[in-house]
Amino acid sequence: MPVITNIDDLRRLYARRVPRMFYDYTESGSWTEQTFRENTTDFEQIRLRQRVAVDMQGRSTATSMVGQEVAMPVALAPVGLTGMQHADGEIKAARAAERFGVPFTLSTMSICSIEDVAAHTERPFWFQLYTMKDEDYVRRLIARARDAKCSALVITLDLQILGQRHKDIKNGLSAPPKLTPKTILNLATKWGWGLEMLSTRRRQFGNIVGHVDGISDPSSLMAWTNEQFDPSLDWEKVKKIRDQWDGPVILKGILDAEDAKAALKVGADAIVVSNHGGRQLDGALSSIRALPSILDAVGDRIEVHLDSGIRSGQDILKAVAMGAKGTWIGRAYIYGLGAMGQQGVTRALELLHKELDVSMALCGRRRIGELDRDVLLIPRDFEGTWQTG
Ligand SMILES: Cc1cc2nc3c(=O)[nH]c(=O)nc-3n(C[C@H](O)[C@H](O)[C@H](O)COP(=O)(O)O)c2cc1C
Repeated sequence: MPVITNIDDLRRLYARRVPRMFYDYTESGSWTEQTFRENTTDFEQIRLRQRVAVDMQGRSTATSMVGQEVAMPVALAPVGLTGMQHADGEIKAARAAERFGVPFTLSTMSICSIEDVAAHTERPFWFQLYTMKDEDYVRRLIARARDAKCSALVITLDLQILGQRHKDIKNGLSAPPKLTPKTILNLATKWGWGLEMLSTRRRQFGNIVGHVDGISDPSSLMAWTNEQFDPSLDWEKVKKIRDQWDGPVILKGILDAEDAKAALKVGADAIVVSNHGGRQLDGALSSIRALPSILDAVGDRIEVHLDSGIRSGQDILKAVAMGAKGTWIGRAYIYGLGAMGQQGVTRALELLHKELDVSMALCGRRRIGELDRDVLLIPRDFEGTWQTG
């Protein structure tokens, strides 16, 4: 067993273990991948203020997100096809999250269904909804999430149409993988993954297959999104969906102060400042750069979370110190899952926790609530001087 000391170690193991098609699906951004890259490089521009001779005993990373207690300000973001990264992947990630004490969010485009994850976990998880043309199907999905006792509804707003990731097209991404000569060759080198996949019956989109008719290709994410996602989604429709859910509603994919204000108006409890991990609008700002202006616009009236680019506990610290109430991680836990299943997700969470805890201590802070912009050294022109209009 190799010694794992950081999230990138997990990524390397993951690359070795999982078929290329699914690794590429995770490790891609749209078009030129500029936003995907800047999500991480912009975090690197912010430095930390070292403080000394502060009593650092009795530290805690515990806090809350949408009123729920969390062991650290981190939620597992919704990730489609997680059950293709490791057999029963959503169940394994959800279990690791509940044991660690952080929320897990199940994607609409998951392999394990809502009911399946609920049956194999003890604590409520969050459900992420993609809005579709078939309103009746959306209503049924929401009802299924309610029946499964999901404790928050996450509505993703930045994927009415799918951003193009070149590799997915070239690889013919599908769940389960279609057996072409190229995939067979690659699968032959991934026997550990293959054996586990053979041992599970969960290999299709669990929230879709068996719940809707008339899909031209039930294995293709691209066919499903092109045919079913609702390009006419607007704030009025978001409000209607918001009103169907009694508990907390989180709007994910906000990158602009005007949209943050609109989210407030429709009655969201939280927003996630996110560019979908650089997978949608290439050329958009990184989330960490977009965060300050959004906080200025709505930060005192709504919980503001952030995702896209978090690969370390220091990134979490930077986002929280800037003003985010919580952060979400996508790839960081998928690397762990693909590398080592449930144990790998736990390992990813442990690594992030340790980095966050030690960095907090060396910045002279003992509690999440004590983190503020005072611990950060932010380049003067960090947000950029852009001209619009
Ligand atoms: C492979 C992959 C699949 C994703 N699928 C979904 C999804 O089904 N629903 C959703 O709202 N976001 C989805 N996202 C976006 C994540 O929820 C999150 O916004 C993003 O991963 C954050 O960036 P990070 O990976 O740099 O942490 C996906 C991201 C990845 C990497």
